[in-house]
Amino acid sequence: MEQLDSYHVFSKIIHWVTALLILGLLFIGFYMNSLAFSEDKLSLYGWHKSFGLLVLILAGVRVVWHIVKPKPKPLSTHKKWEHGIARFAHVFLYLALFIMPISGWVMSSAGDFTVKFFGFDVPDLTQKNEALFQNSRQIHEILAYTLLLIVGLHMVGALKHHFIDRDRTLRRMTVPDLGIIGGAIMSILVILLYACGGIYAVKHLKKQYLTIASVVDSNVRASVDEENEGIFISSVLPEWHIDIEDSLIGFEATQYGQGFEGSFKIARGQIFFDEARLGQSKLRIEIDISSVKTGSNDRDEQAISTEWFDVKAFPYAIFESHKFEKMSANHFLASGKLTLRGITVPIALLFILNIDEGDNGENVAHMTAKLDLNRLDFGIGQGKWQNTDAIGAVVKLNISVVARTK
Ligand code: HEM
Ligand code: HEM
Repeated sequence: MEQLDSYHVFSKIIHWVTALLILGLLFIGFYMNSLAFSEDKLSLYGWHKSFGLLVLILAGVRVVWHIVKPKPKPLSTHKKWEHGIARFAHVFLYLALFIMPISGWVMSSAGDFTVKFFGFDVPDLTQKNEALFQNSRQIHEILAYTLLLIVGLHMVGALKHHFIDRDRTLRRMTVPDLGIIGGAIMSILVILLYACGGIYAVKHLKKQYLTIASVVDSNVRASVDEENEGIFISSVLPEWHIDIEDSLIGFEATQYGQGFEGSFKIARGQIFFDEARLGQSKLRIEIDISSVKTGSNDRDEQAISTEWFDVKAFPYAIFESHKFEKMSANHFLASGKLTLRGITVPIALLFILNIDEGDNGENVAHMTAKLDLNRLDFGIGQGKWQNTDAIGAVVKLNISVVARTK
């Protein structure tokens, strides 16, 4: 009789293993997305995919198991509305157990990224397809946020039954004599794991909001604000001298779906910047295209050829700001324009600025920023290279500039 009134031990094992996996995957998913391109990031992607596929397998086992072994009926002490919400959450969670991993798998296949299950090759679900990649990526992301919310609701419900109603809801999914202390220890662990995912989800959402808002903002302003070209001078604001050796414009791109990294050096620049006078602050940086390094001599030569950056005709990429705004303590937004290969595009650059004191009493500014560019917007990759199968369209810039006042 106990069996009908409580979940079978196998149901409990599947439930809790899946619950831990989902909470871990939400955390790792949002966290890995927040990292800059690195080996650690790629390794986390690999673990994320393996554990995500494990969830899919467990979801299949769970459904078959519940057909063989029916679940206990809802407790009669539950109110009607509680039963309704719990049912809605269970249906959503079941759907998510399938749609989350499948959308991740489709995304990886359509983006031409390999999927392995703990080292074993997994077949692609589809051929490379950019539109499908973007759509499944969006489904995966939106569903991840929704899942985080519904799991939170499901969790709060379970804890309310245990700690407030003091009924058997949580006990019949764990152990019959789970008391207040056992329940509290378990809740703390689960809530901590949930909070880790929640924190990175909020960070991710904030970053996306800022990026969208800043791009819209800069496009509007760029259309009404025509700037003068060339070098400018300022007698009022402190001048910052770029430390060329310590500054780097790094980038990440993909070749046949595999990521590779490279960098450019800054040739020269002018920065007149004062946090108290952002309205007058200005910046112009010239990047030396011939300095490109991608870890392969062949690729470096190809990069500067006429089909790509055409270094003979366009030896420098130029970024010029026309407005600075303070976003938070050390986050600023530089609105301006980027000229690359002769094409000028309005850009909003969100950057982090830290100013310290140097060895000789001077001020040293460390500025870092990330920016995603579409190489096709600048005509980089002519002829057959306009096809993004071999070299992806999106190039991620990792900008790091060190400048000093003399
Ligand atoms: C994180 C991912 C989670 C998923 C996907 C999930 C999924 C589910 C599903 C589908 C059920 C319905 C029973 C079944 O078919 O096995 C269920 C029941 C249950 N879950 Fe979860 N759950 C998760 C996390 C949690 C957490 C964190 C708690 C508690 C803190 C919890 C407590 C319960 C309880 C007590 C039941 C039994 C409810 C009842 O008998 O009415 N679950 N869960
Ligand atoms: C239940 C299982 C899964 C959960 C809960 C989950 C959760 C997440 C979360 C929260 C993110 C971050 C979303 C964002 O910031 O855009 C993410 C990203 C990602 N997931 Fe999953 N995932 C699961 C399964 C999978 C599987 C099975 C794969 C592939 C086989 C996969 C591949 C990816 C990839 C490639 C990304 C990065 C997307 C990007 O760079 O924008 N996921 N996942």
